[in-house]
Formats: sequence, C-alpha cells, structure tokens
Amino acid sequence: MYLELDGNGPLYAQLTRALKAAILAGRVAAGSRLPATRVLAREMELSRNTVLAAYEQLHAEGFLLGKVGSGSYVASIEAARATRPVARVAPATPVARYAKRAREVFDRIIPGRQYKGLRFNLQYGLPLTNPALTSAWRRSLAQASAHAELDYPDPQGLLALRTQVCDYLARRRGIVAAPEDVLIVSGTQQAFFLAATVIIEPGESVVLEDPHYRGARQVFQAHGAKVEVAGVDGDGLITDALPARGTRLVVVTPSHQFPAGAVMSLARRLELLDYAARQRCWIMEDDYDGEFRYDAHPLAAMQSLDRHGRVIYIGSFSKTLFPSLRLGYMVLPPGLRQAFVAAKWFCDRGCPAIEQAALARFMGDGGFERHLRDAAKTLKQRRNAMLAGLRRYAGGAVEVADSHAGMHLVAWLPGVSRAQCEKLITLAAERGLGLYSIHPYFLGRAPREGLLLGYASLPPADIEAAMRVFGACLADLGMARRPGTAAAA
Ligand SMILES: Cc1ncc(COP(=O)(O)O)c(C=O)c1O
Repeated sequence: MYLELDGNGPLYAQLTRALKAAILAGRVAAGSRLPATRVLAREMELSRNTVLAAYEQLHAEGFLLGKVGSGSYVASIEAARATRPVARVAPATPVARYAKRAREVFDRIIPGRQYKGLRFNLQYGLPLTNPALTSAWRRSLAQASAHAELDYPDPQGLLALRTQVCDYLARRRGIVAAPEDVLIVSGTQQAFFLAATVIIEPGESVVLEDPHYRGARQVFQAHGAKVEVAGVDGDGLITDALPARGTRLVVVTPSHQFPAGAVMSLARRLELLDYAARQRCWIMEDDYDGEFRYDAHPLAAMQSLDRHGRVIYIGSFSKTLFPSLRLGYMVLPPGLRQAFVAAKWFCDRGCPAIEQAALARFMGDGGFERHLRDAAKTLKQRRNAMLAGLRRYAGGAVEVADSHAGMHLVAWLPGVSRAQCEKLITLAAERGLGLYSIHPYFLGRAPREGLLLGYASLPPADIEAAMRVFGACLADLGMARRPGTAAAA
C-alpha cells in the first residue's frame, strides 16, 4: 500500500491523514480490508502503536468499520463524508467589512521584533530590563495572588489601582482626576481601539501628527476612519495645518512628539484645545513616555489645561514598567465615561485582577516611584552614551532631533537618498547592528531620511560599540561627512 506522510506533527496524525486521503481519493475502495496493523507498521517502518492510533482515529471518525485488531474495513465514502468533523479548507465565508480592512492593514505591518539575533538592536520599543524590578514585581504579584478576588473584576478597573493612578497623575502629570474618571485598559492599544469603537463612525476623520505612532494609525485605518495628518515642527503639532472642518478626533503626543521629539508649546496646546471646542471634536493625548525627562522639568499634561472636557488622556505602563504587562489607563471626560466602560465590558470584562492588584500594591508601597527614579537615571546614561557615540562616530553625517525625554532619538541624515539609507540599514544588519528607518512613521513619504534609534535595552558600553559600527558603515558607504558640516546636537 503506497502512503506518503507529510512530515507535519506526530506520526500517527500523519498516517491518519495519508489513509484518509487515500480513502477519499478512492485509492482504497469502500468495503476493502486495510492491512493488519502489524503488517502496515512493518511496511512503513513505523511502530505498531502508531498504526493502531491512526486506525483508532479513523474508526472514531467513521472512515473505518469493524473492530481494531480484528480487521478494519473501509466505510463507504458517503458514510465517511457524513461523519467528517471539520472541512480541511474553510469555505469562503462572508465576513464583515472590518475583517477585510483589518487584514489589509495587518498584512502591511512589518513583523514586530525583526532582528532578534542582532548583536546591537536599536529597535524602538525594546524594554529596559532591570533585575531589581523583576524581583520587586514578583513579590507584588505573589502577595496579590494570595489575596486574589476570584470573581469578575470591575470592568472599569480595580478601585485600588484607579486610586493609585489618580494619585500618581496628580503628582507627576498635573492631572486632577477622581477614580471614577479613570478606566484601566490593556495598554494604549486598547485605548485606541475603544476610542475608535465609541467615537468614530467609519468614514469619519481622525487626524494624526505626521510623523506619528503606527499603532494608532493602524487601529483607525482598520476601523474604516478617514485618517488624515497634520505636520509637526519644533513646537509640536502645527495647529494651522488641521482640517478646517469634519474632524472627529485628533491624536497627539504633546509631552514628547512621537517620534520626532518636540514638546508642544503652550500656545499650540491652547490653540488645539480651542480647535476641539470649536469643532466639537475630541483630543486623545497619548502621554506614552512623559515621565522620563532628562534635562528639563517634567511638563504637566495637556489634559490639565482642558476647560471644555474635550481631552481623553491615555497613559501606559509599557514604558514605565514593561510592555508585556499590558496595562494602561485612560482619564475620560464625564460625557464619555459610561460608553467607554460599556465597550470595555463587552470587549473583555475588564483587565486581569491579580496584575491590577499587584500594580496597585507596587504603586502604593513606593516601589513604582523608586523604579521610575532608577529607570530615569539608567535611561539618561544610555541616552548620553548614544549622543556621545553619535558625535564621535557619525558627527558630520547626522542631525539629532532636539529631544529631552523618552527612550529613543531621531537621527536625520541630511543629503542622504532613500536608496542610500536602505543600503546603510542593510550593511549595518550584516554587521550585527539593527537600524530602523523613520519612513513607516509617516502616512506618506518621509520628507527626508532619518533613523529612529532606541536606546532603552542596551547598556552604555554596547551603545558605544553600536555607534562605532554605525560610524564605520557610514564611512564605508561614503556617507560620513567631515565633522562640522552638520552637527549632532
Ligand atoms: C507613541 C506610543 N504610544 C503608546 C505606546 C504604548 O503602547 P501600549 O500601551 O499599547 O504598549 C507606545 C509604545 O511603544 C508608543 O510608542
């Protein structure tokens, strides 16, 4: 009997599939007797148990009749078809329009952590690892699980955590909020998703900064929103570039423009708030890394200036702690609260209670603040190492965007073409250095070439070494200029 195994999964499953295919193709006729398990095992150089398991499976699915061990006979195909549990190829099923859009957007996403094997990966978003945080978190988690409530949590978030978030926001971000204004979400990503669901009808306009955070753009595109952009300069979002009408939501990063780095000026903040009041649209303030400011005072969030209840404030623990935690928070204007809580409830019934309780403890006992202080020190050293490395090894070739916060820098490459930039990225990858273009962060074409350099995950010595490789790549591609022709800030 000729059977070909496809090499996927356990042997008994491969044999089951091969036998099924032979039966369905009519190569083994209905009513015929299959070889004895011992015989087939010998022929196919399989163990008898493997063959027995395959026969049992085929019996269970109705492809064979009789008793395993006393002769197995092939059932008629009609009978077998009637009992086949699942079709192997799903028929084309009508799906909602959302599915088509989501697939299109998703298929364009460059896989997250591309260059895992690289010696120095400057990918934005890789977290700062800190053994002290890991042990403190493990302790909090253990205590929280010992006292865990097992029923569904409040979908709005544990009161203890919402209270801690309010306290924290008042001290660090100048936000006055009560626990009932706060919704705990599974990261900023869910905040965007809920906002799309609650605020935006497909076809309505969402305005993003250009460049911007792709995670936001993708959610709104998949939702079917009309995604528009307004440029940024050294004062943040250019408010004069906002559409004259039709805007439903503006997404901004005022504390640290993502990714270009500017702090939105007070004048622009007030203009944007005014715009939202006139347009009766919403503003989403994504305060993703406002806690980490190095050479300047922390700035109060834009939400603290909002007199018209137009700002939806979002924060995340992805940067302050670590992204796999998947916890963040929203501060909602009163008119939106109920709808967001309802959407959260329909979405997932609330975030996991043990993690929320652990976080509330960690914030309450001062561990979180301690960690933030340590992390800010470490990040500042890494940032300085990167700035020094850029000056030393790439001085004339890059222009570093003015930025005093966060976990990344943008290095613009004046006079470099897109093809040259691609070559640079390829050569660097060959030499173990992961570099990333600024292009994906623009809706259309980036006005000039640049690189987004994340420094959170590498110690200063590695950053120095990475910058040396970067400088050598620039020199080997003839892109290094004499120092002084363009300066790294
Ligand atoms: C601009 C911006 N917003 C938000 C986030 C955090 O997203 P999340 O909370 O979904 O991890 C990030 C993380 O990289 C970010 O860069």
